[in-house]
Amino acid sequence: MKKEIDWANLGFGYMQTKSHIAYTWKDGKWNEGELVESPYLNIHIAATSLHYGQAAFEGLKAFTCKDGKVRVFRMEENAKRLQRSAERTFMPEVSTEMFNDAVQRVIADNKEFVPPYGTGGSLYIRPLLIGSGAEMGVKPSIEYTFIVMVMPVGPYYTNGLTPVKALIQDEYDRAAPQGVGDIKVAGNYAAGLYAQAKAKAKGYPIALYLDAKEHNYIDEFGTSNFVGIKADGTYVTPKSQSVLPSITNKSLQQIAEDLGYNVEVRPVAYSELGEFAEIGACGTAVVITLIESIDRNDDHIQVPTFNKETSVLSKLYNQIQAIQYGEVEDTHNWMTEVSL
Ligand code: PLP
Ligand code: COI
Repeated sequence: MKKEIDWANLGFGYMQTKSHIAYTWKDGKWNEGELVESPYLNIHIAATSLHYGQAAFEGLKAFTCKDGKVRVFRMEENAKRLQRSAERTFMPEVSTEMFNDAVQRVIADNKEFVPPYGTGGSLYIRPLLIGSGAEMGVKPSIEYTFIVMVMPVGPYYTNGLTPVKALIQDEYDRAAPQGVGDIKVAGNYAAGLYAQAKAKAKGYPIALYLDAKEHNYIDEFGTSNFVGIKADGTYVTPKSQSVLPSITNKSLQQIAEDLGYNVEVRPVAYSELGEFAEIGACGTAVVITLIESIDRNDDHIQVPTFNKETSVLSKLYNQIQAIQYGEVEDTHNWMTEVSL
């Protein structure tokens, strides 16, 4: 039985579901994990995640496919990325097997919250790994908690594929070249909140960041990667040490190649922005959001008007969604079926 939810009009907001799954790491090992109905954690006031930001998370999605089965998109990639985040912030590894097991168990327990096929919705899956043991000095925790929570979502930006205006603010950086921009740690998002709020207040739904060292190259948007399409269809995305390796971006690159487009992963100069026929922001939550224009001080870079017929980004968007909803063959084995 599905929940009574207005599936077609879901946004990207918090909604309480039936349960989350929680695991504890103590004395050098993880426990078996349990499904918990309360949405609260009982955490020590001196937990390292609270004081020192020892926290990493992931974001992935499950879809009800055309054949009625529920499948998760590229779960192993998220498991691997969490392993990199854990290593860099000195937390114990969550094995791919444990990650997979956690995701499967929590979806099965919350199956009535997976949006039905045809509604455009999906189940957003949020794994979170935190230091939960007490420490006063700056050192790694002696205890860790891994949880996975889920919630039904629709589009991240409420206007769907309507292009949005982006703003570059030179006074704020997202991530230093040898810092933690390439892993998904909680502090990166706290660091971006102020700049995001300032951009919103000026009428820009999305902030674009330049490389912190020179401010000459494009890094990424606050919560999504940058993709530019040249007039000949070439897919261009920044190569930078401080960009989060997006699984959506990696998948879109593969799809672009499958469709016969060239893909270039290389530094993208700010001065090149005016040469793109299309610009998009890509990530699990947004899939692809089209960018209408980019402002930086007195510069205004207008992206050519979106043309549905010729748009490479909309072709890529349609193809990735068709794979996710099981409407075309999953030739790269990206989807994992959930046993319900
Ligand atoms: N860049 C940042 C900073 C993000 O937070 C995200 C979201 O996870 C992405 C890019 C997109 O990554 P993915 O496609 O793996 O969701
Ligand atoms: C993504 O999944 O694309 C995100 O960046 C999630 C965001 C809410 C942090």
